[in-house]
Amino acid sequence: MSQTAFNRIRCCVFDAYGTLFDVHSAVGVYREELGDRADQVSQLWRTKQLEYTWLRSLMKKHADFWKVTREALEYAFTVAGVTNPELFEKLMEAYLKLECYPDVRATLLTLKEKNFKTAILSNGSPMMLDSAVKNSQLYSLLDAILSVENVGVFKPHPSVYRLAEKEFDLYPNQILFLSSNAWDVCGAAAYGLKVAWVNRFQQPPENLPFQADVEIQSLNELPELLNIK
Ligand code: LAC
Repeated sequence: MSQTAFNRIRCCVFDAYGTLFDVHSAVGVYREELGDRADQVSQLWRTKQLEYTWLRSLMKKHADFWKVTREALEYAFTVAGVTNPELFEKLMEAYLKLECYPDVRATLLTLKEKNFKTAILSNGSPMMLDSAVKNSQLYSLLDAILSVENVGVFKPHPSVYRLAEKEFDLYPNQILFLSSNAWDVCGAAAYGLKVAWVNRFQQPPENLPFQADVEIQSLNELPELLNIK
């Protein structure tokens, strides 16, 4: 896709978990305590967390992402055979202070210098997003932090992606949505936003007829894409 396709972009909206923040950094802090079950717990935690968001949305039984994240960790502990309530609470706390990826700050800085609007659009609850953003000192680089709690349903429901449009009063093709989550990319594309897939882990695309306009490996490629390097 040529750069000209992004000439109209005025605003970059980022997914949070997996895109700005490393979801596996919570287990990373307690790798020793979890021993050889660390990776299993971290993978299951993330997989179940997402599955529960989709299930709750289909069942029309929304609960916020903090509760869902807790329920997913309970599942992961049970399957991995970990029984340690103290460690459980420590992992939940660590989820509020996930590390941000090394390419995040510089990219946001460049966007702000060039007068682009910036935002997070995430399943995360306001409390979780507030904590993660503060912990990584990103507040001054973001114009908005948009949580699905505003609409009471999780991604990829179209009303979530509409939040970005409403917040900035822009047309969908003036907003570039960036996510590392392939299914989230499909959701935003199906809604009609311009979409960049930040394919951090060289994953295959979802086999759905709604695809990203462009694929990049890291956020470092964004300024060039927007012709602002
Ligand atoms: C989010 C999840 C999808 O931040 O990672 O919305």
